[in-house]
Amino acid sequence: MKSITELEAIRKKALEQMSVRNQDVRMRVVVGMATCGIAAGARPVMNAFLEELKRRNINDVKVTMTGCIGACRLEPIVEVVDEKGEKVTYVKMTAEKAARVVAEHIVNGRVCLDYTIGAEEKNK
Ligand code: FES
Repeated sequence: MKSITELEAIRKKALEQMSVRNQDVRMRVVVGMATCGIAAGARPVMNAFLEELKRRNINDVKVTMTGCIGACRLEPIVEVVDEKGEKVTYVKMTAEKAARVVAEHIVNGRVCLDYTIGAEEKNK
């Protein structure tokens, strides 16, 4: 069994590593992976983000997954969060749309307005 001092050292080291990792992250891409998201095609969307970022050698964007975002009918849903915590929600995503979001939003800082939840709601 580890002593309190050893555990404290492990905790400190883990916290240091986490803060180093977080400093390296410029943006986060969060893909909704609830059952409805997966059924609507979230996996190829997530793979497209990972492949496109790798292909472009972008290492400061982290791709993660989350569960229910609360809007099944708009899945696959992807949130892109910048370093200030500002979030853009993209809906009805596809692999092709994911590649465009990487090129325009993540690389050039231009939000793909036509894929956002706001544009989708306007078209109803
Ligand atoms: S179950 Fe579909 S968004 Fe929650």
